Amino acid sequence: MSPVTGTTACGSAPAGKGPEAADLSVDVGPLSLTNPLMTASGTAGLGLEMEPFYDLSAAGAIVVKTLTKRPRHGNPMPRLCETPSGLLNSIGLPNKGIHHFIDEVLPDLAGRAARLVVNIAGTTTREFGELAGMLDGLPGVDALELNISCPNVEGGDLPFGRDPDVVYRLVSDVREATALPVITKLSPNVSDIAAVAQAAKQADSDAVSLINTLLGMSVDWRTGRPGLGTVVGGLSGPAIKPIAMRMVWEVSRKVDIPVIAIGGVTTVDDVLEYMCAGASAVQVGTTHYKTPDIIPRLVAELGAQLAGAGRATAREVIGSMRTP
Ligand SMILES: Cc1cc2nc3c(=O)[nH]c(=O)nc-3n(C[C@H](O)[C@H](O)[C@H](O)COP(=O)(O)O)c2cc1C
Repeated sequence: MSPVTGTTACGSAPAGKGPEAADLSVDVGPLSLTNPLMTASGTAGLGLEMEPFYDLSAAGAIVVKTLTKRPRHGNPMPRLCETPSGLLNSIGLPNKGIHHFIDEVLPDLAGRAARLVVNIAGTTTREFGELAGMLDGLPGVDALELNISCPNVEGGDLPFGRDPDVVYRLVSDVREATALPVITKLSPNVSDIAAVAQAAKQADSDAVSLINTLLGMSVDWRTGRPGLGTVVGGLSGPAIKPIAMRMVWEVSRKVDIPVIAIGGVTTVDDVLEYMCAGASAVQVGTTHYKTPDIIPRLVAELGAQLAGAGRATAREVIGSMRTP
């Protein structure tokens, strides 16, 4: 059984078009994509790790794992724990730092993806601006994604993404430092995600992506051990899709800014459901661990599904949901 459709087998597809003639191209603000499928940060490495599985240009965009100013080791083990229909993680953003990426990785990576989105996280709003400035104008970098779910060391270690005023300042600092398209990646661990999206838009973010992982935990009552070394971590995978769907819908109807949906995508129906609810593009995360070539599989099936439903373009599905 195909992991993409649940029913039929399908193979890899050329970038941009599926096996049928449907036009898969979409725009996320100033960022034009040949198709709406993107990798979700942290689940496809720095991009090059996926090359054994598919040609990176098959994806609408490759989003690299979060880069920080200085190298980070990440969190104590265990860092991953499976739950019903989901995955808990507390990876802790291990990476070799922005300079290593710029000097050692980008020269190889540039030009291999149809679009390359670099995901960054700072410890202060100014550091986000600094990181953005370092990436501005580098060949091969097409856009930035801001991971605002990480702790703000100036704000009592609370995540940036919880406070619309802090998000406004953070995005403004990034905006001043770069002409690149900016995507602000929103945390679901807030009471009003549309208010945070609105703050990002007011500071001139070109788009928002949502959702990052939901806070969760697990415990083995027999051993008394929590599933994760940090006890609390982030839940991802199909279990979070209905929550992400609700948030995508809320943001897309309340805030006039392109939305990229993230959360539990495994099938082409998931992709089209998110687009119907208002998303311009869709990222795929946890499914990579089961099906590393999920992106080209989805791209291939997307064209066929659209054509089968009499749709000539992917664009016409965006926001087509009928509100009762
Ligand atoms: C193992 C793992 C590592 C992740 N690392 C990052 C990261 O470095 N930066 C980030 O912005 N999001 C990170 N995420 C969150 C994903 O990009 C995505 O927002 C989330 O997993 C929901 O999508 P999914 O259900 O398709 O996995 C990570 C998720 C997982 C499962």
